[in-house]
Order: sequence, then structure tokens, then C-alpha cells
Amino acid sequence: MADKILRKRTIRSFVRRAGRMTASQRRALQDFWPTFGVDAADVPLDFRSLFNREADVVLEIGFGNGETLVELAAAAPEKDFIGIEVHEPGVGHCMLKASEAEISNLRLIVRDAVEVLRHQVPPESLSRLNLYFPDPWPKKRHHKRRIVQPGFVDLVADRLRPGGTLNIATDWAAYAEHIDEVLGASIRFECIERREHGGEAPLDRPQTKFERRGLRQGHRIVDWCFTRQNRGQ
Ligand SMILES: C[S@@+](CC[C@H](N)C(=O)[O-])C[C@H]1O[C@@H](n2cnc3c(N)ncnc32)[C@H](O)[C@@H]1O
Repeated sequence: MADKILRKRTIRSFVRRAGRMTASQRRALQDFWPTFGVDAADVPLDFRSLFNREADVVLEIGFGNGETLVELAAAAPEKDFIGIEVHEPGVGHCMLKASEAEISNLRLIVRDAVEVLRHQVPPESLSRLNLYFPDPWPKKRHHKRRIVQPGFVDLVADRLRPGGTLNIATDWAAYAEHIDEVLGASIRFECIERREHGGEAPLDRPQTKFERRGLRQGHRIVDWCFTRQNRGQ
């Protein structure tokens, strides 16, 4: 009991949805794990041996069904891509798409992205981090679950190399305000582009599934690109 009281509760940015896994997603998870899967561990990854080469590494947090991630990886074979997602049916779907696209520059991790950044991503190792349509947690009592928080922004800054970029998009006006506030207060990032649009003008990325859902509900989209400054460590 005392142990229960003393143990600090971790606030996570997701709830594990039960979500149905189709037979083909389950099979893809099993069959393609050796090709695309990376086990959770508490030691830093060596990207060079993970991809058998030296290249820029782009990381995406919460890739959902992964179609955007696979499209981006297929369009940039000179770069390496790491996707993090906790929703297993989405990971299965992504592996299916990745194998159809016959790409070799993609690896996937099934784990809380904050833990992956903390334990598995070496300092100053990423050239870019994509955070597309993070869960908005609209209720006030849930705002603490939003992944974009000052501590998260500092962690991302530590993992990006100087000049690397943090690219975010959301369709929730109130989350956009929160992102403006948190990133605006960080001396480690500078906003180099902020674009509001109706789905027609995303910043260098394909439309995502959640973006289309937001657009159907009449939401506007905000896209940002922040660069990691060489100060404030
Ligand atoms: C609203 S969906 C957006 C999915 C996709 N990016 C898109 O735009 O279609 C957010 C996704 O982030 C994932 N997610 C949320 N917090 C996460 C975390 N801490 N680590 C890994 N995945 C997370 C959720 O499981 C969910 O699939």
C-alpha cells in the first residue's frame, strides 16, 4: 500500500485503445518485425548499425496508421526514418505498407515516445522530429496529458542536433494556442514557419488520416517548423 502511495504516477499522452487488429495487421506485425521492428530497451540505439549506414535520421512520434511515414520514407531514400507508436494495429498497418513499398530506411518502435527519447535516442542524433496531429486532450482536466509540454520540448531539443527541426501540425485551435505558448517560451527553438490553412497547403508533408478527419469536421490546420538553436543547454 505504502509502495502504491509512494510510486509516482506517470502522466502519459495516450491511453492504450483496445482497438481491433485485423488478421493481416497481426500477421504483418509477426512477419515484418525482424525487418522493421526495434525492441524497447534502456540503452541508446546505434543508428549506424541499425540502418547499416550513416545518414540523417528523421523521427516521427505517434504515426497512427503510418501511411504518411511510409510515404515520406519512400520519397527520401537518402534519409533514415524511425517511427514510434503505441497503437499496435497501426504498427501492423504501417509494416504492411512499408513492405509493399519495399523500403529499407524505416524502423518502428512500440513504446511511449517520451521513454524512447529518454532512453533510446542519443543526444544530438536527430536531424528532424515530426509530430503530426498529436492527441489534443481537449478537456481542461486532461491538458496535462498533452505531449507538448516544456519538459518534452527540452528533451526534443537535447535529441535534435543544432539546426535540426521540430515539425508539428494540429487541427485543434486550442492546442495550437498551447503549442504557440510552450514553443514561444523556449529559448532552444525558433519558429521559422507557421502556416494556417484549410488542408490545401501542408508544410512539406502528405495529408494524414487525422488531418482528413479534422477537415471533415470543419477544423483549420496549423503547421509549424521550429529550428533547434545552439543555446540554452
Ligand atoms: C491523433 S493520432 C494522430 C495519428 C497520425 N499522426 C495522423 O495524423 O493520422 C495520435 C497518435 O499518437 C499516438 N501517441 C500518443 N502519445 C504517444 C506517445 N507518448 N508515444 C507514442 N505514440 C503516442 C496515439 O496512439 C495515436 O495513434
